[in-house]
Amino acid sequence: MNPSSHHPIGIFDSGIGGLTVAHAIKNILPHETLIYFGDTAHLPYGDKSEAAIQAYSIKIANVLLAKKCKVIVIACHSASSASYELLKEYVGREAHIINVIDPMIDELEEHYKNATVGVIGTKRTIQSNIYSKKIQEKKLPIQLRTLPTPLLAPMIEEGFFNNQISKEIISQYLSDAALGRLDALVLACTHYPLIKNEIEEYYQGKTTVLDSSLAAARTLHRYLSSAGLINTSQAETPHFFVSDYTESFEMATRLFFGEAVKLESYPLWH
Ligand code: DGL
Repeated sequence: MNPSSHHPIGIFDSGIGGLTVAHAIKNILPHETLIYFGDTAHLPYGDKSEAAIQAYSIKIANVLLAKKCKVIVIACHSASSASYELLKEYVGREAHIINVIDPMIDELEEHYKNATVGVIGTKRTIQSNIYSKKIQEKKLPIQLRTLPTPLLAPMIEEGFFNNQISKEIISQYLSDAALGRLDALVLACTHYPLIKNEIEEYYQGKTTVLDSSLAAARTLHRYLSSAGLINTSQAETPHFFVSDYTESFEMATRLFFGEAVKLESYPLWH
């Protein structure tokens, strides 16, 4: 199949958190039709093995390809670190794949040479060492400091942000010696844009906080323009599928997407 400009953009994540990426894409590319898939039956991906995440990612890619997506955006950092290379090979020329890590590496290359940069994310993302591998591959003169911050995603899902508890947990993590003094900090998890302001407050302007969802949306925009795939007609109704529907997931959509959306159940054993 040859991708065509009116085909949708597929976006997937382990759950609802990837709606931060969908939101960034919707803001930059309002005419694109979005198809979102949250693998709520299998979340969190952050604690799963690479093999398990790869198997889920292939199943989701099949769903998005069947819906004729011209691009598949891996919104989840844990899945981007575990499955990007595999998906690229699997999907081949049927769709273009964008992850949420390479766009940030490009941003670091452009603006943060010779800087000390921190990365926080799930255990899977940090243990994969993906940022350091990519920085080494490109031979970038960047001093990298990483820290798994696994408590932050469930904390945000439970609505604990902009309060005393989140402030305390954020400051415990960011004061960890593994991070030290940073020029910039990469938010390498779908959920963290929601606590970006609290993290900025912690650093009081001394460290720039970098949002991967914005970097990914800009990369997608550039790709669509260069490939002549920008949709020139109106966007069709978006769809938000989840592999396991619950009301609490639906309620959480407002947190991550800025407005409530209707979730449609799509079990992965379809
Ligand atoms: N979406 C995941 C990520 O960005 C966070 C939640 C999870 O662990 O599934 O890594």
